Amino acid sequence: MMPPYWSLGFHLCRWGLPDVQWNDLDYADKRRVFTFDPQRFVDLPDMVKEFHQKGMKYILILDPGISSTSPPGTYPPFDEGQRRGVFIRNSTGQTLLGKVWPGPTAFPDFTNPETQSWWEDCIREFHSRVPLDGLWIDMNEPASFVQGSVEGCPDSDLDSPPYVPPVIGGQLNTGTLCMSAQQNLSTHYNLHNLYGLTEASATHSALVKVRGSRPFVLSRSSFPGIGRFSGVWTGDVRSDWEQLRYSIPAVLLFGLFGVPLVGADVCGFGGDTTEELCVRWTQLGAFYPFMRNHNDKPNAPQEPYVFGQEAQTAMRSAVMLRYSLLPFLYTLFYHAHTSADTVATPLFLQFPSDPNCQTIDRQFLWGSSLLVSPVLEQGAVELAAYLPPGTWYSLHNGQPFYSKGQYLLLPAPLDTINVHVREGHIIPQQEPGLTTSASRSNPFLLTVALSAGGWAWGDLFWDDGDSLDTFQRGDYSYVIFIAGQVGDVENGALDGLVLGGLRVFGVPSPPRYVWANGKKVWDFSYQTDTKVSCSCLRYLYRVQN
Ligand code: GLC
Repeated sequence: MMPPYWSLGFHLCRWGLPDVQWNDLDYADKRRVFTFDPQRFVDLPDMVKEFHQKGMKYILILDPGISSTSPPGTYPPFDEGQRRGVFIRNSTGQTLLGKVWPGPTAFPDFTNPETQSWWEDCIREFHSRVPLDGLWIDMNEPASFVQGSVEGCPDSDLDSPPYVPPVIGGQLNTGTLCMSAQQNLSTHYNLHNLYGLTEASATHSALVKVRGSRPFVLSRSSFPGIGRFSGVWTGDVRSDWEQLRYSIPAVLLFGLFGVPLVGADVCGFGGDTTEELCVRWTQLGAFYPFMRNHNDKPNAPQEPYVFGQEAQTAMRSAVMLRYSLLPFLYTLFYHAHTSADTVATPLFLQFPSDPNCQTIDRQFLWGSSLLVSPVLEQGAVELAAYLPPGTWYSLHNGQPFYSKGQYLLLPAPLDTINVHVREGHIIPQQEPGLTTSASRSNPFLLTVALSAGGWAWGDLFWDDGDSLDTFQRGDYSYVIFIAGQVGDVENGALDGLVLGGLRVFGVPSPPRYVWANGKKVWDFSYQTDTKVSCSCLRYLYRVQN
């Protein structure tokens, strides 16, 4: 799936919030999906319109369980669903009822084509009232608070097979539906692990039809193939340092599974976070392909603005750094979309013959060229980072490190995440704005990291960021940058894109002059110590401060 450009921005959510960019169940009337609370959320449609005027987006949660206890005629999703036969049935053919947040619920059977069109109708009707931008599909394992159904499960081979793996609760139906339940395609026993995948597919295609632009879906349940329809977040992680560390292998694995749009809940979901943990998590989260701060209902708030000035400054600079890199990140998603490349990449994939890289799970790359080395320990202000053989330049100031394949001790005060550019690469950046749409129209900046031989290469995929199938229709631009030569431009026009600055890392001696478009450029500089040449002072000043 090629994600919409805006979905690469910073997302803010929590359970227990009366009004913010994402909404958890709090928006829904008695927790029933496709409704909104007429008291607390009476102005929800206006709120969403206001977000849109500000260039912001709105996403809300959509659980699959459909409340079954509303008085007949008052809750069309259930009444219509029953009439159209869309729900999973128990072994004797009645609608199976489990229990989720709203109480007793029926579960749509997304393997039934009729269910897909009913789901689309429900989304279309709700979208006509609340013009949401994306859907967060949760509880879709499917999860239930009773074992099997409100009536339990029959004594059958499918519900109690001869061999049961050591699952929590000892039964296959623990926290989910009876295995003997019937779906259109087969028994739930055969389809259980596909529930989230089939829901993601139905939700993706409903959003395409209802909104007519690129869909955004985020799913908790996953299965191979889901990356075609949806991103994934890593579920209810605790707000602690161990879970911060585990989030890196989780994100890298999903990349390998073909789900590049992935992230963990920034600052952690369960339990109270701390200021330091939340700063470090925001710095790492700025390099998750999908970045969302999300929190559980009873916990202390963890939106960036609740912390002290020092923490806020550190978080702001991490988010600004991400926004400055969005053109590069988006180009990586283009490669994931067209050639199944990874976005967040384990080191061993780029350096397969370096035995040191095989076990590294505390650092990772964006694509092949940006090395991210976050702080993952409480109280740490420096870290030992592995640099594979070659020259690596600090993204912040161009300082070069010539590595033979070794660990280096790097300073990492609270306001810093270490990011290094690999020699021979060019990173397209933009001046960061307050929203992805503001960022997108700012001048570009190229960061050129010269190899020892004095060359570098980079590329940029650019389209309107939101239309369907731009790649398939050829409605995009693809630009290749080559240090020392004229770049190639393929396809559509690049109207409105401005190159506002250029910085070159690893220039051996001071340049005597700089030319752009046949004219001499005077505001360039050269730093003898780091060998950085630059004609982008305004930009660097803003990022560093
Ligand atoms: C689940 C989700 C979590 C959400 C909660 C309430 O636990 O994983 O993200 O906040 O349900 O909807």
